[in-house]
Amino acid sequence: MHTANPSGSGERSVIAGKILKGARLGRGSVVEDGAVVGYPSARKVPWKRLDIGACARIRSGTFVYLGTRIGKGFETGHYAVIREENEFGDDCQVWSHSIIDYGCRIGNGVHIHSHVYVSQYTVIEDGVFIAPRAVLLNDPHPGCAFSRQCMRGPLIKKGAMIGGGSVILPMVTIGEGAFVGGGSVVTKDVPAGAVVYGNPARIHGRKEALKCRTGHTVRPYKKWRKR
Ligand SMILES: CC(C)(COP(=O)(O)OP(=O)(O)OC[C@H]1O[C@@H](n2cnc3c(N)ncnc32)[C@H](O)[C@@H]1OP(=O)(O)O)[C@@H](O)C(=O)NCCC(=O)NCCS
Repeated sequence: MHTANPSGSGERSVIAGKILKGARLGRGSVVEDGAVVGYPSARKVPWKRLDIGACARIRSGTFVYLGTRIGKGFETGHYAVIREENEFGDDCQVWSHSIIDYGCRIGNGVHIHSHVYVSQYTVIEDGVFIAPRAVLLNDPHPGCAFSRQCMRGPLIKKGAMIGGGSVILPMVTIGEGAFVGGGSVVTKDVPAGAVVYGNPARIHGRKEALKCRTGHTVRPYKKWRKR
């Protein structure tokens, strides 16, 4: 292990993993042994660099590809894969075994839990939470001659929550602050603040009307409001 300061100023970084040509991390970052930062994609990528902001923590087994831009405070679990041509804002987390495929736009403060798959050309806005094993799809008819031209991932708007094991079909919009229950298959757009669940997912009320089952509070999201 060696310590380095790739950004050239301030707090030192601790680099035990590999930082390949073209990759740059901000000050105070940690790259654990067995992580690879700046992995070159087999796809042609116009921008052959990788910028990661200050205070990142890249845990062992994670690969971050060249051609991506990531803000400060980025954190991964183990064995996460962040492909090329992605853009992340600040303070995002991608936990263990999750894959962010290429060409996604991800806002600030987005929390992607473990074993999540985010397909190409997905847009995730600020403050979204995606629970374990959720799958976000992008190609309505895989193998069609026009797949490449038409594939588009879901748009997950600000503050939405995607429940564990959910499947979100291509091109669906999940509205601001909406709540997708565990195990749902979401086939249609979800209005802002709505609670949906089931297969296919149907609207079952409003997020602020959900009731607490454990007695710690009455309505868990009562204070939720549009940001
Ligand atoms: C959606 C959710 C908040 C419950 O909403 P709710 O309106 O309070 O629902 P209730 O618990 O009162 O259940 C109402 C009915 O819906 C059913 N139901 C509840 N959640 C469901 C779900 N996710 N999928 C299918 N049916 C569900 C219940 O079985 C119940 O059916 P019944 O009336 O036939 O008995 C909760 O079930 C859920 O999915 N939470 C997300 C969990 C999660 O993924 N967390 C991620 C962090 S790890």
